[in-house]
Amino acid sequence: MTTRAAKTTVKASTNAKRRTSPSKAPPLTIAMPRGRILDEALVLFKRAGIDLGAAEKARAGRKLIIPIPEHDVRVLIVRDADVPAYVKHGAADLGIAGRDVLEEQDRDLYEPLDLGIGRCRLVVAEPEDRPIDEMAKVHLRYATKFPELTRRHLQARGIVAEIIKLYGSIEIAPLVGLADRVVDLVSSGETLRQHRLREVETILEVSARVCVGRAAAKLRSDRIDDLIARLRAVVPSYALQP
Ligand code: PRP
Repeated sequence: MTTRAAKTTVKASTNAKRRTSPSKAPPLTIAMPRGRILDEALVLFKRAGIDLGAAEKARAGRKLIIPIPEHDVRVLIVRDADVPAYVKHGAADLGIAGRDVLEEQDRDLYEPLDLGIGRCRLVVAEPEDRPIDEMAKVHLRYATKFPELTRRHLQARGIVAEIIKLYGSIEIAPLVGLADRVVDLVSSGETLRQHRLREVETILEVSARVCVGRAAAKLRSDRIDDLIARLRAVVPSYALQP
């Protein structure tokens, strides 16, 4: 039977231990999007002296939480559109996300550095053989993965239209009668060409950025500032233009 005195002694010795060896801060947690941005980000991190190669190997093995103890870092592999949520709610200290995703969600995060990777454009496109007259008073439909950016764009242009939210393969929407136009990302332009769509205008130049939550920016500023400084030293100079 444990006596009250014995319990008190154990508690006292545990407290003493806590005082002498303060609990170590958790590893810096970075939310990274799978896909092309991840590949390019890993190259950039390596140049900055932070080899996250283990993330590449673990990803091949379908691991989604990847400890990198040698850098006191933990990488979370998530969907690109989910990065801001992990960062906003403090589940990750920082994340890497495209400007498209960040501006679509507008979650009040710090964006201290554009990495200049994952470059593409968010454009309005329409069938080559069915150009749209925006000012004609007809019911227009725009298909997109980015309803909020599309809404802001249409509002700024004074265009009244219906926005149809899709999750992928946007380019087929005008070909099968689902929409008159699309708002989608263009990189090489090959997908537009394949579907005989022409660009009408660019809404946003996109590249991937580091995003940081408000709490992490205060509580982990030393680690985060150090990481940003290392990355800033290796990002392509065009990405640092104001
Ligand atoms: C993206 C984007 C375009 C395509 C553009 O799609 O939505 O469809 O890439 O690239 P390109 O200009 O080089 O052809 P993604 O591959 O992410 O698939 P999704 O259509 O399912 O979103």
